[in-house]
Amino acid sequence: MNSENNGFFFSKKKYFIESNGTVTKKSHSNIALIKYWGKHTKEIQIPLNSSISYSLEQVYTVTRLIYYMKKKKSKNFSLKIFLSGEKKNIFLQKIRNFFHRIAYYCSYLQDYNFIIETHNTFPHSCGIASSASSISALSLCIMEIEKKLGSFLTKEFFFKKASFLSRLGSGSACRSIYSGLVVWGYHKYIKGSSNLYSIRYPYQVHPIFTKMLDTILIVDEKPKKILSSKGHQLMNRHPYAKERFKYANQNMNRMISILKTGDLPEFGKLVEYESLTLHAMMMTSNPYYLCMKPNTLSVIHTLWDFRIESKKNIYFSLDAGANVHLLYPIQEKTSISKWINSDLLSYCKQIITSFCIY
Ligand code: PMV
Repeated sequence: MNSENNGFFFSKKKYFIESNGTVTKKSHSNIALIKYWGKHTKEIQIPLNSSISYSLEQVYTVTRLIYYMKKKKSKNFSLKIFLSGEKKNIFLQKIRNFFHRIAYYCSYLQDYNFIIETHNTFPHSCGIASSASSISALSLCIMEIEKKLGSFLTKEFFFKKASFLSRLGSGSACRSIYSGLVVWGYHKYIKGSSNLYSIRYPYQVHPIFTKMLDTILIVDEKPKKILSSKGHQLMNRHPYAKERFKYANQNMNRMISILKTGDLPEFGKLVEYESLTLHAMMMTSNPYYLCMKPNTLSVIHTLWDFRIESKKNIYFSLDAGANVHLLYPIQEKTSISKWINSDLLSYCKQIITSFCIY
């Protein structure tokens, strides 16, 4: 485990005073290959197993953070939030809580009022979780302010702290700070891995995994009924949780070896197994619940049939929702797009294809 602790991320007390300013940052969404599901109860946003994800090139958020000096210093945060130019008060509470949580590490935030203007490349409320890209973009903006206010930051510390802050807003968001294959959570075989922030995957990756595509099939565009925060909480008294955390870490061992050897069928089996395990955890929580919809299952069965017939390397992954991610190498793009258009379109409301950044 790395020697850093929370104290490593405190901001310096003395800053230049800047009366106002604007910073802009972009951050990508990610799809986990080994899933994070379950966190410690006593510490804030500390995962119970390590996870790894690909960042998605075409699925991102751009955030502009405007800050201006408060007339009177106070611990309250005055925020205004705009999504694609529209004022969105529904996000105020979540972002205000985030600011309060990180204020301890970014004392300068209390000197300012903020306007947050944010745009996603994907339609909002289409069922793609935007918290990973939006919280990480906001954290990068905050670090840019820290830099502008005169704190000397190495590039390494800048991103490390941005990931640390993101984690406090939404766990999986901390993996969005870096593009490529990113690991979050301590794993004994991954050098530099930490529960406090993410790192770039530090080992050799077979060329096949450097050119993967993710086609996201939106089968349900409604917001999730059970928030992931609730889902994580249910893992705390889940009868199979201990085994899950043990297996997730073992699955990470397998993933390390697969990424090196380039065994695509084994990669696919593992990614699908992780996805179904995640959903099995939800279905066996108390209270139990189900995120998949009939069309999720139709897509999975159609994919499995297609894979047997065509022998193509295409595999699915699921987040904590009903939508399906299809992962496949770029060489298969033409034939797979044809198949998606002919066999899967009727199950989907929308389709988004993105390059998995390596
Ligand atoms: O980051 P959260 O708290 O929204 O949790 C999301 C976890 C999954 O997306 C289901 C899996 C993952 O590792 O991204």
